[in-house]
Amino acid sequence: MRLPESQVAVLEAASATEQRTIEQVSEATGLKPETVTGAAFDLEDAGLIEVSERTDASTELTDEGHRYHEAELPEVSLHRAALDGAGGDDPGVDIGRAVAKSELGDRANIALSNYERSGYGTVSNGVVVPDEVDPGADEVTAALAAVADGDTPGDDLLDLLERRDLVVRQERTVRSVTLTDEGVTALMEGVEAAETVDRLTPELLTSDEWQDVEFADYNVEADAPERRGGKVHILRQTAERVKDTLVGMGFREMDGPHADSEFWINDCLFMPQDHPARTHWDQFALDVPPMGEIPADLLDRVRSAHLAGVGDDGQGYHSPWTEEVARGVDLRGHTTSLSMRYLSGHEIGDLEPPERFFSVEKVYRNDTLDPTHLLEFFQIEGWVMAENLSVRDLMGTFEEFYAQFGITDLRFKPHYNPYTEPSFELFGEHPETGDLIEIGNSGMFREEVLRPLGVECDVMAWGLALERLLMLMYGFDDIRDVHGTLCDLDLLRNTEVLH
Ligand code: PHE
Repeated sequence: MRLPESQVAVLEAASATEQRTIEQVSEATGLKPETVTGAAFDLEDAGLIEVSERTDASTELTDEGHRYHEAELPEVSLHRAALDGAGGDDPGVDIGRAVAKSELGDRANIALSNYERSGYGTVSNGVVVPDEVDPGADEVTAALAAVADGDTPGDDLLDLLERRDLVVRQERTVRSVTLTDEGVTALMEGVEAAETVDRLTPELLTSDEWQDVEFADYNVEADAPERRGGKVHILRQTAERVKDTLVGMGFREMDGPHADSEFWINDCLFMPQDHPARTHWDQFALDVPPMGEIPADLLDRVRSAHLAGVGDDGQGYHSPWTEEVARGVDLRGHTTSLSMRYLSGHEIGDLEPPERFFSVEKVYRNDTLDPTHLLEFFQIEGWVMAENLSVRDLMGTFEEFYAQFGITDLRFKPHYNPYTEPSFELFGEHPETGDLIEIGNSGMFREEVLRPLGVECDVMAWGLALERLLMLMYGFDDIRDVHGTLCDLDLLRNTEVLH
């Protein structure tokens, strides 16, 4: 007969004449008790052994029980002290004195509450009156000693000890095996261990051999090499979430060139060509031919805004403005170039208010790398075009947007941009350091920006930093944790952006 290896071992360790416990078989075979139990039940199903069960009760002293067994029960100590102190005319002893004398400390209450019950005397009106009872003949003390010796005191005493938490009673099931006649016969005819296989093959299946082999158990706790698949970077994941959020708020997405003419990047935004603002971002200029496709009429209107302002009482910058500079190509330092393209009608035709657009895209600045600055980062650009917009609308939009990322403590600070009036910087509190972190820049586009574009109503707009949003969401305080060679791999691997 062929049986799984563990069953063969258990069968051979069992006896026909004597019950052997699972523990004994486990010791004899070197198999774990749970393996022996499993094999024993399988063998019982096959009729080769019989498994019997009995319940063993055991009683053990608790820590407190041990303490009283080794020293003395509190009520016994109290009784000794009371017997000692009483005498003469006075049959009683003041409780305070008796307690102090017996050195009961915080066990005084236990002693007092058991005193009368144990038949040692009475406690009333602050006085202990001991009866002539031998403290050495205490039956609870004797019962503790019995349990300590592995004997069983009478049921009543055992109940009492249990109620006083001096002993615990435990029950456990002890299983034993004995060989049946079939088992004896099988052993005489010979049992062999079936081969253990750890892989089911087509050959095992077609040859029917699978019926005779033993399948190895899976060890689900075995160490295994960790496999890490590629995953979307948390910046990209967060960018997607931002996009979903803005789409949910009714915005449409803008798209456009990373390398663009200064016209769209700066001139449309009423940034004077000779103003430090044109270089204050230190944009990356590209050594490529000037950009051709700029609508001639728009170019004229922008030039005129720069030179003479807009409206009857407008003021321009009264400084040089050349088409050559406007047609120079840079890596965009902000995605507000996209907003200009869309608002001008150049990208998807003229727009009628109300309209809302956004982009979550890369921008490039020649900054110095530090914990809060990268040379390229993601900007969350957005604008709303509508009649009669106010700063409240702008702030309300931010509150609504950031609340969806758990950020509810926004601060606004007046700011200056050549293209918006008024302008506000946005700040949020870093969850770990508590520092105020600048997370964006915003404002209402000026007439000098909107009129040349052909927009007659109000437009509120912003550029927010995606990386800074991430810092507030996940609490890291160096932007390089998520970018570049110093990145925090665990953070990148283990952070899941929740949608
Ligand atoms: N372009 C600004 C920046 O990069 C953001 C901004 C966009 C501010 C639109 C106001 C309006 O900081």
